[in-house]
Amino acid sequence: MPDFLWWRDGVIYQIYPRSFADSNGNGLGDLPGITAHLDYLSDLGIDAIWLSPFYPTPDADFGYDISDHTDVDLRFGTMGDFDNLLAEAHKRNIRVVLDLVLNHTSDQHPWFLESRASRKNPKSDWYIWQDHIPNNWQSVFGGRAWTYAPEREQYFYHMFLTEQPDLNWHNPEVRQAQLDVIRFWLERGVDGFRLDVFNLYFKDAMLRNNPKKLGLRPFDQQRHIYDADRPEMIALLNELRSMMDSYTERYAVGETFIASPEKAAWYSGPGKLHAAFNFDFTFRRYNPSQFLESIQRWDQFASGEIWPNYVLSNHDIVRAASRYAKGEDDGRAKVVLAMLLTLRGTPFLYYGEEIGMRDISLKRSEILDPPGQRYWPLYKGRDACRSPMQWDDSPFAGFSTVKPWLPVHPNYATRNVAAQLEQPDSILHFTRRLISLRKEYPALQHGAITAMTPKPRKVLAYLRKTHEQTIAVVLNFSGSKESLDSAIQNSSWNLLLSSSTTVGNARSPLEPHEARILVEET
Ligand code: NOJ
Repeated sequence: MPDFLWWRDGVIYQIYPRSFADSNGNGLGDLPGITAHLDYLSDLGIDAIWLSPFYPTPDADFGYDISDHTDVDLRFGTMGDFDNLLAEAHKRNIRVVLDLVLNHTSDQHPWFLESRASRKNPKSDWYIWQDHIPNNWQSVFGGRAWTYAPEREQYFYHMFLTEQPDLNWHNPEVRQAQLDVIRFWLERGVDGFRLDVFNLYFKDAMLRNNPKKLGLRPFDQQRHIYDADRPEMIALLNELRSMMDSYTERYAVGETFIASPEKAAWYSGPGKLHAAFNFDFTFRRYNPSQFLESIQRWDQFASGEIWPNYVLSNHDIVRAASRYAKGEDDGRAKVVLAMLLTLRGTPFLYYGEEIGMRDISLKRSEILDPPGQRYWPLYKGRDACRSPMQWDDSPFAGFSTVKPWLPVHPNYATRNVAAQLEQPDSILHFTRRLISLRKEYPALQHGAITAMTPKPRKVLAYLRKTHEQTIAVVLNFSGSKESLDSAIQNSSWNLLLSSSTTVGNARSPLEPHEARILVEET
């Protein structure tokens, strides 16, 4: 193992392309927009960007319904723009991870158009077709997972929208076509993939009914044992991994559908994926024992050659700052960011998280996301966490010159990159310092982790240790001043970073919602 491995020790930054930067004034972000901000990302110190889909799409699910996996949607740029982005990112030592959606396609994908046209055509078996609805399977976006197609007088299966039919991975031609997509991008020079809902690729060959359980929506009233996590997946991961390993330092992280740490760990490691997401943090309250429990549970499964990862925000969930912070105050957001960036495991940052972007609030008539339209007001969809990046205080936050596809958060006049660059105590500067500490101290990258208090009530404190270095991370989750843990009081420490501007030295009491990082004197 090399001393520094970008996907293990570095920080991966997720970009939702349509909301990052609009270079051509169509209200949607695009690839040249990202290229224009690579210096910003390089200054932030991240090691890789993961790009949510930018492929041709009818946009039923905002890019997660792909109609051509090996091209760029004209609204986002051209293949030339992609090659340029890749080259410019590599010049800055930033790796590029693509989001591959291989479980399903758009219903406008030529494969589906052909498959749907008749029961007898070369692609008739590329999707999952049945004469009658064969089982109780539900779509996670609502309703039955089976839709009737009059052309074939048959039903096809879709875990997501009707416009996102699932591919039949049991068909060897489908498998080959999908592996060809992966190879296409590897040959183009991309560094890795985020595999959308990879553990759904295979469904039970006998299409058996899922057993029932208690739950709110029909989808949650089933145990998903026949429509997810089928054993065939392992042989495929094996094949995929050998393909990835025949190139240098490539990486695949799977989006685990209905993730538990056990499951995420099961899919990761040699011969499988480099990593699979564990989203447990996103369900936790702002409470040190909640997070510690989550970390320890994950660590129990992600040990040895299985490398953990941590996520607080992404394009499917409420942003961490909206979940944890109070109003515009960033104290709590800094505490959780400090945690994310100092744990043993790859941190994933979501665009705008470094400036503490909050979710926007939308009226029912403004909702674009299909599950939001369907379940409002019980569930308002995912638009709120996808609002345009806030670059400066000019109209539309410097994101675009025209009205963007989703509204800019009204706080953009004060919460934006340009303003925060001018404020030494901004969350942006704090994030940059955290990332640079992670770069500087190998203990923060791959050092072992030990909690300092087993059941913390207010302060989460842990050590990160290699043979040569010990770092202490002390996070005050409370609104009161707290004393430092006695173990810390008793050794000699140097202060590396504090989120508070009033901290005197390494040993002073903790300020409310302070994140402090110390290094042991050698
Ligand atoms: C998971 C993605 O993260 C989500 O945005 C998308 O809607 C579904 N997969 C379907 O592709």
